[in-house]
Amino acid sequence: MATHVEGLVDEVYLPPAELARGAHCSSMEQYEQLYKQSIDEPETFWGEIAKQFYWRQPPTGAFHEFNFDASKGRIFVEWMKGAQTNMSYNCLDRHVEAGHGDQVAFYWEGNEPADSARLTYAELLQRVKRFSNALRSLGVRRSDSVALYMPMVPELLVAMLACARIGAVHSIVFGGYSSDALADRILDGHCRLVITADGVWRGNKLIKLKHITDHAVELCAARGHPVERVVVVRHLPRLHHLVPSVGDQPGGSEPYNVKTGWNSGRDMWWDDALEGVSDECEPEWVDAEHPLFMLYTSGSTGKPKGVLHTTAGYMLYVATTFKYSFDFHPEDVYWCTADIGWITGHSYVTYGPMLNRATSVMFEGTPFYPTGDRMWEVIDKYAVSKFYTAPTAIRALMRLGDETVKRHSRQSLKVLGSVGEPINPEAWLWYHRVVGDARCAVVDTFWQTETGGHVITPLPGATPTKPGSACRPFFGVQPALLDEQGEEIHGPGEGYLVFRRPWPGIMRTVFGNHERFETTYFKKFNGFYCTGDGARRDEDGYIWVTGRIDDMLNVSGHLLSTAQIESALIEHPDVSETAVVAAPHSVKGECVYCFVTTRHGVAWTEQLQKQLILKVRERIAPFAAPDYLQYAPGLPKTRSGKIMRRVLRKIAQGDRDLGDLSTLADPGVIEPLFEHRCAGA
Ligand code: WT7
Repeated sequence: MATHVEGLVDEVYLPPAELARGAHCSSMEQYEQLYKQSIDEPETFWGEIAKQFYWRQPPTGAFHEFNFDASKGRIFVEWMKGAQTNMSYNCLDRHVEAGHGDQVAFYWEGNEPADSARLTYAELLQRVKRFSNALRSLGVRRSDSVALYMPMVPELLVAMLACARIGAVHSIVFGGYSSDALADRILDGHCRLVITADGVWRGNKLIKLKHITDHAVELCAARGHPVERVVVVRHLPRLHHLVPSVGDQPGGSEPYNVKTGWNSGRDMWWDDALEGVSDECEPEWVDAEHPLFMLYTSGSTGKPKGVLHTTAGYMLYVATTFKYSFDFHPEDVYWCTADIGWITGHSYVTYGPMLNRATSVMFEGTPFYPTGDRMWEVIDKYAVSKFYTAPTAIRALMRLGDETVKRHSRQSLKVLGSVGEPINPEAWLWYHRVVGDARCAVVDTFWQTETGGHVITPLPGATPTKPGSACRPFFGVQPALLDEQGEEIHGPGEGYLVFRRPWPGIMRTVFGNHERFETTYFKKFNGFYCTGDGARRDEDGYIWVTGRIDDMLNVSGHLLSTAQIESALIEHPDVSETAVVAAPHSVKGECVYCFVTTRHGVAWTEQLQKQLILKVRERIAPFAAPDYLQYAPGLPKTRSGKIMRRVLRKIAQGDRDLGDLSTLADPGVIEPLFEHRCAGA
């Protein structure tokens, strides 16, 4: 680590006394009591919470039913079946009708510090109603899926809430994905309408969202799926630019012409879609288990999975986790730096905070633009009290030195959250000591796209924390550790992290492929939801998530599968075989290390390596690009032909302690791999 930090890793950090005094959960006794009730009487526990929300109809049958045992039939989860409600009504109308319409819902902070805006709950409601009508007039009906490929602008909030209002299912694709990746998701989700923007500046870089969308839509058409409508937010002209001209690159002179390739039968400006629509819009009352959204996450086969979340359970769960994990109070200003294109943004930029009527910051930019002071400037500008970011950002900011942080006040801060990957104790301690001046609670929240919300997390006013541990399960969550044989490990030990029963926010299926849902999450250990992560439980019952134990890698908190990257590399005609592994990285957590065998007679040139990087950027996204590409004359395989990734991971790290090699078919492949190892990894 670049910066030396004081503080003891094995020390326990008690909840700040002042925070504990007014907290929703202010002691471990209270936590144990609530936890016990959530497990013993889930209907009472969640039923009480459900009373805060508006239900058009109460549940008709059992409050909660599920099956996690494949031998008893189909795996399913249902909460509050038959109840009718609407997510947008609960996020907006409920607050406005109670007289809180003038409260700020979001302070929007643009990429340029000069660009900002504020949106009240009443304004948002009005915009959502109008855009809901626009969607309806474009033919979007209940249960239709709509793809959103958008920057972090207010229209993204409006579009997702409008989908929810009319019972449509949003499928948000992170604006950093390539046109190929966008096309895959549009196709798999059967989306006929795509909402995008002309473009967005991220730091100094212009991302031409409309052009990427055009290409994706062409790819869809070529694969027999017509996209009927593309609605485009006109974002670029309303921005202040420090960059001299709206060129491709900083200093570029060609203006970006979004109208190039404009298809007038298909493309429509957002503002034109709103022309003449009514201000009134009755929400579509949907069943508790009506789908709210799908969100794609990497799968170990390489094909992304459309994780499907439904309405009532997700609503109860994100609202409750938001309230307790950040100890939310009405006077808070909350800021989650995640992009809405990830699950963190869905649950903790949009739905969780809005269900709690929070005032939040929505940030379009990056932590380093215009300078590495930006995060702290924004915290002081809005007096942020609850802050939520990722370990990769913490580590990158830590490298800039303590002074960058200390020249800003940060007095408003109370709770500091972390999410996305295991946080190393050095980063945890720096976050606590430097960012939080040792007076804030640090909450390391473990969860997944699939879990909908936090499943293992400290509660800031109650849980004594240990740097690097996500601590204890949230209400309703029963974790277990299993060994390879599926035997449960009781007490201290390490194993596969699984969950014994569903909580309201768990995913319901993989869109269009329920069988994949069952095999991915429930097949390895029947009766349990399998996270794919390993974890250790210590003597105090604290859980330490150690990271993925499947073929996934976590780069800066973005989950990628090795198969996904391999299939992009193998498309290159000069490549005969490839294997991708995760290697440790001091800022990103993990990085992408690729072993590549070329076809006979093909030289390992710089040009080839550049082409391979480009392939991955095109097929997946720039953030998936290989950090290291190494030439592999041959790959270590078992006699049955299985690539020994465990060995490759060691080679990538330069670790000669390769363990048991008895199953290795050709021991001669190992030495040349060390010879060709990439320097610096
Ligand atoms: C994977 C899920 C949950 C929102 C962002 C990522 C890793 C996430 C933690 C944490 C250790 C963590 C796991 C998990 N992960 N948070 N606090 N400690 N690991 O969502 O893309 O679905 O990735 O991220 O490996 O399985 P995702």
